[in-house]
Amino acid sequence: MPAIQIAPSILTADFGRLAEQVREAEAGGCDLWHLDVMDGHFVPPLSFGREVIAAVRAASDGRFIEAHLMVERPGEQFADMAAAGAQRLIFHYEAAGNLDRAREHIGAARALGCQVGLAINPETAVRDIAPLLAELDEVTVMLIRPGWGGQAMRPDLLTKVTDLAMRVRAEGVALQIEVDGGVKAHNAHSCAAAGATILVAGSAVFNAEQTPQAALAELRGAIG
Ligand code: DX5
Ligand code: ZN
Repeated sequence: MPAIQIAPSILTADFGRLAEQVREAEAGGCDLWHLDVMDGHFVPPLSFGREVIAAVRAASDGRFIEAHLMVERPGEQFADMAAAGAQRLIFHYEAAGNLDRAREHIGAARALGCQVGLAINPETAVRDIAPLLAELDEVTVMLIRPGWGGQAMRPDLLTKVTDLAMRVRAEGVALQIEVDGGVKAHNAHSCAAAGATILVAGSAVFNAEQTPQAALAELRGAIG
């Protein structure tokens, strides 16, 4: 299995001491940051925007940042996200609506010098986005309904990860496969076994029971 990367999401972090939480997770060996931007339309809640991305950029020792845009009009946010320090822009296929519009978004993100990721909600099939795989750096498979941290993963959705991993091998494309939602130490291995190469971990890393360092060590141990 390729090296699996762990990408903490700060949704359940203590925003009153965000810089410290970033440094704690980095001391725990996280690989990159997964920052969840929500607009109150594509998903019901609001989360944060460019100011918080810039704050993570400033607190980090330089680790890679991806912005997961759960917003209705992602293209309008690309320039701000890139300027704030996001190096990969992940938009939702459901927000783009079709392959042509998704290709426009891919081009716009590339024009800003960013990597491009495409996220799919539970109801979107892998075959719907299959024509785009060669044009992307990453696909995010949502294992929950997007909008909230701390939900339980739907393990039935891991078949989409297996499907994607098969297509990646068959087509010989360089694509990271990310899983997002409900990743914990007890299910991290099944995500990796299905073919995920990046695990997003929100409440598994930032919770009341453990330090981020201890939580990351447990997750890393679970992947084996
Ligand atoms: C939810 C976000 C996720 C979330 C993950 O819409 O996209 O990244 O923060 O949090 P957990 O790991 O707690 O499910
Ligand atoms: Zn996310």
